[in-house]
Order: sequence, then structure tokens, then C-alpha cells
Amino acid sequence: MEEKKHILILAIESSCDETAAAVVKDGREVLSNVISSQIALHTLYGGVVPEIASRKHIEKINYVIQEALDGAGVGLKDLDAIGVTYGPGLVGALLVGVAEAKAISYAAKLPLVGVHHIEGHICANYIENKELEPPFICLVVSGGHTHLVVVRDYGTYEIIGRTRDDAAGEAFDKVARAIGLGYPGGPKIDKLSREGNPDAICFPRARVADAPYDFSFSGVKSAVLNYLNGCRMRGESVNEADVAASFQKAVCDVLVAHAIQAVQDYKIPGLAMAGGVASNNALRKSMSAACEREGIPLYCPSPILCTDNAAMIGAAAYYEYINGTRHGLDLNAVPNLRLGER
Ligand code: KG4
Ligand code: ZN
Repeated sequence: MEEKKHILILAIESSCDETAAAVVKDGREVLSNVISSQIALHTLYGGVVPEIASRKHIEKINYVIQEALDGAGVGLKDLDAIGVTYGPGLVGALLVGVAEAKAISYAAKLPLVGVHHIEGHICANYIENKELEPPFICLVVSGGHTHLVVVRDYGTYEIIGRTRDDAAGEAFDKVARAIGLGYPGGPKIDKLSREGNPDAICFPRARVADAPYDFSFSGVKSAVLNYLNGCRMRGESVNEADVAASFQKAVCDVLVAHAIQAVQDYKIPGLAMAGGVASNNALRKSMSAACEREGIPLYCPSPILCTDNAAMIGAAAYYEYINGTRHGLDLNAVPNLRLGER
């Protein structure tokens, strides 16, 4: 009997502040997953500085790729394709990964598959849930995006809800800055909240009229800023842990309510979560309690696969590859690429 041929993809991710490469087998098995984080560097400036991010990517990318190949025990000759994030993201950062992927594709005569970063986040769910198949609904909560997506099929996405203003991660980052926690805000709020009372302050849970799956986080962010200013003006001390926990609960309540509503309305038997904010402990807890109560199967990648990584890009690239997606050497970075566009 002929042995089944496996598909090995080298994936590259450089859309923001992580330089990452991974080798993924058949879209679901991660042979290596190398992430070089720039967080410490950007912390000095209170947020990601785009030009510094690009410069750091160009310094690190070859080492990160070599480590990913070595970790997987493979060479370029063993690969079937190169997958790379080409948008959305910071243009200078994306260009480093795209140029690198094109150079490898040309030199090693390997097919090139450009991947949408958010498709990558969604596909992170396939890695640890081997049984997960579309259709399912995915709540995408990252630094730049908050979407409710119906995943109709591999590579077929319908966005049914989106944020009208700030993304969930952006709200975490801005509130963290206001509390004085610094960058990156999400993980710091997550940690500080454990010492706070989530019911101490009632921050608003916004609904968007006639758009039950849309989100708006600018109101809760402003409410936190007003609360902090009010306390400071009155000379009252602020219990920062209570503020963090109460803000976090307000955001999580809305994310959970909208996601559950969407699953019930669309009668789709499964909910997945994706993106950096999906690594938030309170969100994972309250989403899993709600799903248990409603009898909805819930999928959520391990935290390391929620935040930016290349294994998720390898998973997405695999499904694009077997669907026939190929990009030429004219592939460019597309900073505002829309989900589902090719
Ligand atoms: O998906 P991601 O790594 O990058 C983007 O594609 O944007 O998401 C980064 C965002 C940041 O806003 C960060 O503060 C947030 O995810 N984040 C978190 C946590 N870890 C990362 N937010 C809340 N709780 C966390 N534990
Ligand atoms: Zn991301």
C-alpha cells in the first residue's frame, strides 16, 4: 500500500511585534513553533513602534526560521509550501515576512501561500482540536479586531459582527495605560484582576441598536477614564485591582452574551475563540461556564496559540494550499486586507 503523503508547510508571521516561524504537518500537527517577542523593547515606549518592529524583524527572521526548521528536524527540500502572513498588520513589519517568504519560495522552488492574519488566528483552533471542522462560529478578539465570524467551510468566512470603535484588545491596552500598568495591557489587567472585585464598579455594557452581534468598547473605556479622573480630582485613592477586574468583567460579559446569542440564532453547533484576548483567564472562564450552561461545545486554543504565532499561519496556509491558493512573486503586504479577500 502506498504511504499517504504528508504536507509540510513552513509558516512565517511578522505582522506586528512577534517574529515567528513554524513547521506544520497537514495543517494540524505542529512540528516546531518559534516566537521571538519584541515586547520588552516596545515596553520602553509604551506601545509598538512600527519602525522598530520592522528593524527587529529583519534582524531576527533568519535565525527564527532556522530554529523552526531545526526544531522540526527538516530542511527546505522536505517542505511542500511556504505560508506567510501578508495582511492585515503594520506594513513595514509585514514586508519583512513577505520578502523573506518570497526569497525562500524562489530559491527553493516552493509554492507560496499568502495568509490572512485573522484566518490564522481562527485556524489556531484546528491545532489542538483535531475533531473540529466547519461550520462553527468564532469570536475573534485581538489587538486590532473584534469579530464574530461564521466559519462556513475551510477558507469561507462570513463576518456577522464587528466592533464599531475600539477592538477588545485595544480597550484592554488603553485602560491598562490609564491605570498605569503600561504595555502590553491585556496580560497585566488579566493578572491584576485576580486581586480585585469584578462587581466593585458597574461599568457600562454597550449594545449597538439593531446590530445584536456588533460591539462597542469606547464607552466602557471612557467610563473607566472618567472614573479614574473623578477619583483623582476628589483626592480619593483608587483600588486599581477593582477597576481592572470590573472593566474586564464588563468587556467579558458583552463578548460572552453576543457570542452565545450568535450560536443560538444561527443554530450552529460550536463556538471557537481566537486572538490575543482569547487567552484572558476571566473570558475563558465565563465563556466556558456559559457554553456549559447552554450545551454549546467550546473550543479555545492554548494561550500561546491565541497570541501571535506562526503555527496558526501554518494551519491556515495548509487549508488554503489544498484549496489551490497560490501567490506569485509579486505578492505584496496588504495592511488593511479584509477577511475572505485573496
Ligand atoms: O492577537 P494578538 O496577539 O495580536 C493582534 O493580532 O492584535 O492580540 C494582541 C492583543 C493585545 O491588545 C493584548 O493586550 C491582548 O491581545 N491580550 C490580552 C491578553 N493577552 C493578550 N488581553 C486580555 N487578557 C490577556 N491575557
Ligand atoms: Zn494577531
